[in-house]
Amino acid sequence: MKQDSILITGASSGIGRGLALSFARPGRTLHLGGRNRDRLHDVARRCIARGADARINVHDVRDRAGMEEWISTAGPLDLVFACAGITASTRGGAEAPHEPDDQIRRMFATNVDGVVNTVLPALHVMLRQPRGADGMRGRICAMASVAGLVSFPGTPSYCASKAEVDRFIVATGGNMARAGIVMSSVTCGFVATPMTTQNDFPMPGLTQTGDAVRAIVKGVARGRRCISFPWWLAAGSRFMDLLPVRVAESYYFRQPAGQAGTMAETGLDDAAARPLPTA
Ligand SMILES: NC(=O)c1ccc[n+]([C@@H]2O[C@H](COP(=O)([O-])OP(=O)(O)OC[C@H]3O[C@@H](n4cnc5c(N)ncnc54)[C@H](OP(=O)(O)O)[C@@H]3O)[C@@H](O)[C@H]2O)c1
Repeated sequence: MKQDSILITGASSGIGRGLALSFARPGRTLHLGGRNRDRLHDVARRCIARGADARINVHDVRDRAGMEEWISTAGPLDLVFACAGITASTRGGAEAPHEPDDQIRRMFATNVDGVVNTVLPALHVMLRQPRGADGMRGRICAMASVAGLVSFPGTPSYCASKAEVDRFIVATGGNMARAGIVMSSVTCGFVATPMTTQNDFPMPGLTQTGDAVRAIVKGVARGRRCISFPWWLAAGSRFMDLLPVRVAESYYFRQPAGQAGTMAETGLDDAAARPLPTA
């Protein structure tokens, strides 16, 4: 797999940060995107210390024009990872748990439009590139989630946004494979990142960031269109989605994560003020 030039959104934290550090070595150029300048600088500094050429771009993935400008002028791109994303759960209400309107809109704008704003310019760049020795022009990988495989009542807009990402990437990837571009969708379970640190419920199959990064890179290198882990959680989620809605819901509503307010809303200003990680 050619990996000289790599672009990553959400590189300031969690999985995107882990990917950036794992690719950082001499001869590689890393284009790192995120909103928080300090954390992005910190990741870039660590990548440069490992010998890579790291360039940062502070942006909001919802900014279509800004993303187009950044990605279309970055130069050749071998690998693009769309990692930027947010999550949140329902809140308790007088009548019923619900998601506030602005939370739902922010979820779709960030998780869906943000991925589209990354993937479309990346596709245009890659389609103009010559094929490499392996016949490939480039590889694009987007973070979906096992949440996108189910209709989980604790996080409706997150589930919906990730289902969109997964279907878009996998379906488009069928056509793009013929053009020499691999498109991979990652449907993973819980990963131990700042996104999940505030969850105060059991997270079955919780994967450490380093293990998640290795699974993603291995899947992309093998040209996998669907990268799923832990396999049993992805398989179980697909099975749950085959059940009648009321049967599945009666199970989900009894889970701690199915309760209102169990998941912190990420991607807000206070999240941007998180301290720099030490490792
Ligand atoms: N952790 C999990 O359990 C898990 C499971 C399945 C899928 N995923 C998905 O994996 C991806 C990465 O998650 P993570 O766990 O690494 O989360 P994280 O540690 O919270 O990192 C999220 C990243 O997204 C960036 N981001 C958020 N909103 C943005 C915006 N509007 N514009 C630009 N960047 C924005 C953040 O940038 P700043 O910090 O600079 O704001 C940060 O770099 C997400 O798409 C998530 O949904 C995560």
